[in-house]
Amino acid sequence: MLVNCKQILTKADQERYAIGGFNITSLETALGIIQAAEEQKSPVILQISEKTIDYMGLEVVTSIARTLADRASVPIAVHFDHGRNFELVWRSIEIGFSSVMLDVSKMPQGERIPFVKEFALRAHQRNVTVEVEEDVIGGREDYIEGKGWKFTDPKRAAIFAKETGCDMFAVSIGNSHGKALPDETLDMKLLSEIDAAVSVPLVLHGASSTPDEKIRDAISRGVRKINIDTDLRLAVNDAIRATLKNEALYDPRDILKSSIEAVKKVVSGKIQLFGSNGKA
Ligand code: G3H
Ligand code: 13P
Ligand code: ZN
Repeated sequence: MLVNCKQILTKADQERYAIGGFNITSLETALGIIQAAEEQKSPVILQISEKTIDYMGLEVVTSIARTLADRASVPIAVHFDHGRNFELVWRSIEIGFSSVMLDVSKMPQGERIPFVKEFALRAHQRNVTVEVEEDVIGGREDYIEGKGWKFTDPKRAAIFAKETGCDMFAVSIGNSHGKALPDETLDMKLLSEIDAAVSVPLVLHGASSTPDEKIRDAISRGVRKINIDTDLRLAVNDAIRATLKNEALYDPRDILKSSIEAVKKVVSGKIQLFGSNGKA
């Protein structure tokens, strides 16, 4: 069933576990995520980036995500990830997304609070939740550049969350997008300070390849939404490469099917690590 993020994150906050925000890059990844969520009896967040919208088209990807969410036996949020084209983000709300992320890290400082406040007000009237990223997160994916990486200041974050009325706040504590950087470390003390200052649930981006013990530590310090994309992409690629070795296979469905299973396996493992299994 379709839900917004607030509904599932409030329970996660009370019971101190995290919910996975898993990115869709194909129909197969979406199927793998939903199948894992149903098997694990877990809520999940299906995330759609601007690159995926460019690839599939907003209507097509919304139909896929909404149909899967509506039919699922567990709570599913359909979430716009790293929205920087704010007109497109608004269109996604009109067409059926239940949650959005405003990535205002590239916006001039003075414009951020009034913009997010006004946007969140309008989104809340439609029962849509709003995540915000204020500070640039490191690393690189195709549309998301980590240039000018800046760690979160707890005091500034507290004012930002309070004044904008956003529902979730994405932290920058050394986390980075894409494959792990060799010297990547998370500042756990800073995370605790942010959690003490900010009243809304915290989001950890760039969590692929982060060791399990660090993920558990981050959850114990207040992270309630954890974003995973790269680990799914790598699983898809490995599965398809291995399947293609069998030259007798020529039906794309027989080849791509292996990637559904691969995504399902990774997502099931993450759900157990995050502690959201059995919480649907
Ligand atoms: O954090 C970024 C997401 O993984 C989306 O990446 O823009 O390459 O789809 P993308
Ligand atoms: P990864 O690249 O580490 O999977 O991060 C995904 C993410 O943060 C999506 O917003
Ligand atoms: Zn991200």
